[in-house]
Amino acid sequence: MPAVVIVGAQWGDEGKGKATDLLGDRLDYVVRYNGGNNAGHTVVIGSEKYALHLLPTGILTPTLVPVIGNGVVVDLGVLFEEIDLLTARGVDTSRLLVSANAHLITPYHTAIDKVVERFLGEAKLGTTGRGIGPAYADKMSRVGVRVQDLFDENILRQKVDSALKSKNQLLTKVYNRKAIDSEAVVQELLSYAPRLAPLVADTALLLHNALRDGRTVLLEGGQATMLDVDHGTYPFVTSSNPTTGGACAGSGIAPREITRAIGVLKAYTTRVGEGPFPTELHDAWGDRLRENGGEFGTTTGRPRRCGWFDAVIARYAARINGLTDFFLTKLDVLSGIESIPVCVGYRVGATTYDEMPVSQSDFHHAVPVYEELPGWSEDISTVTDFDDLPKNAQSYVKALEDMSGTPISAVGVGPGRTQTLVLRDLV
Ligand code: GDP
Ligand code: IMO
Ligand code: MG
Repeated sequence: MPAVVIVGAQWGDEGKGKATDLLGDRLDYVVRYNGGNNAGHTVVIGSEKYALHLLPTGILTPTLVPVIGNGVVVDLGVLFEEIDLLTARGVDTSRLLVSANAHLITPYHTAIDKVVERFLGEAKLGTTGRGIGPAYADKMSRVGVRVQDLFDENILRQKVDSALKSKNQLLTKVYNRKAIDSEAVVQELLSYAPRLAPLVADTALLLHNALRDGRTVLLEGGQATMLDVDHGTYPFVTSSNPTTGGACAGSGIAPREITRAIGVLKAYTTRVGEGPFPTELHDAWGDRLRENGGEFGTTTGRPRRCGWFDAVIARYAARINGLTDFFLTKLDVLSGIESIPVCVGYRVGATTYDEMPVSQSDFHHAVPVYEELPGWSEDISTVTDFDDLPKNAQSYVKALEDMSGTPISAVGVGPGRTQTLVLRDLV
């Protein structure tokens, strides 16, 4: 025991990397359980800044074991590039383990992701173009290639050949692209095998034994609740289950082992890519949040869409994930705003909602109902104790806690490791 999940409560980029890093020295294992290198988790330690995409954030803590779970889709080129970059910066990556059952993102997945987005034109999803959707589609269609396939050349060749048969038809006949050479893909994948072999493990068994022996395991989610393929704003979602249910499936840890579920929640809201976003601001307030919050994508560099805090979404995330705590981030970004609107419900025509509307059309047309909370003018980025925050900043946190029905156990006042006010132990 215990197994703790960190999950994004909004549309991603809430600060999951920072939250995971903060808990680092209390953990024995940090496991990524979903997504792939569509994630971008930023950690700031002193003057050093790290952006992790595929590797668990825990890799920056030398005492723990970072694990890429079975639920992750792995682009091996990216994996080794990220390892090399960190190694060059003096980070010891030698403890990393990768599940034998994780699926691989191959060059044809990335090609299809990009070509489909181009083909969709105006109707595009705004994916990260990393091959995530096509790799998960193959997993579900049972034509995916897994880590363990790399160690049996015949099986690998059969799987790639068979997958490319239909995909090349699609690429050449529907999308007017060149066919992808199956043997070249096989050779590229095989070239990674010697380096990958020592990292491969039965990670589900390893984690089971670790929990039995009293070790602490943190499950680090990529993406977020509103990007979940089942519970998010479908079809404007990613292709995995970032929510806590996905943490079990994507790691092999049983639900009853999860003792704590921490939702990382931004003090306002952002979204990258297409899709509905009720509190989005298209005016100078949106620009201000983007500038002050540095809201530009860690993975693609795209400007993030910005809006006010949405309590309906926070409540929804608490319910879907069974959250025990919120880790509130970026409170500092709201300093200097006289009165801060917070969305407490939606209006759609004559109907008022205080829960997520089940109809996608209603959510698309949702008009936020705002309550105004008094702001504060002080810079709070050097505050180290919650009680030293301006009274209105304390009240803002308490109001969010009341509206979302879940305790806020930590408050971020800056990107740095030390810029967090911890109200309650999280592990
Ligand atoms: P993740 O994907 O959830 O890990 O989040 P990202 O790393 O993509 O984006 C969060 C950004 O906010 C990063 O640049 C962090 O360094 C930064 N950040 C995290 N917590 C805070 C905070 O409390 N205040 C400020 N100003 N920045 C923060
Ligand atoms: P982290 O872990 C924010 C978004 C993309 C797009 C949609 C589908 O850093 O919070 P995909 O490439 O996954 O098929 O794209 O999901 N998206 C993210 N947005 N943070 C992320 O990860 C994201 N990962 C994917 O922008 O809208
Ligand atoms: Mg991110």
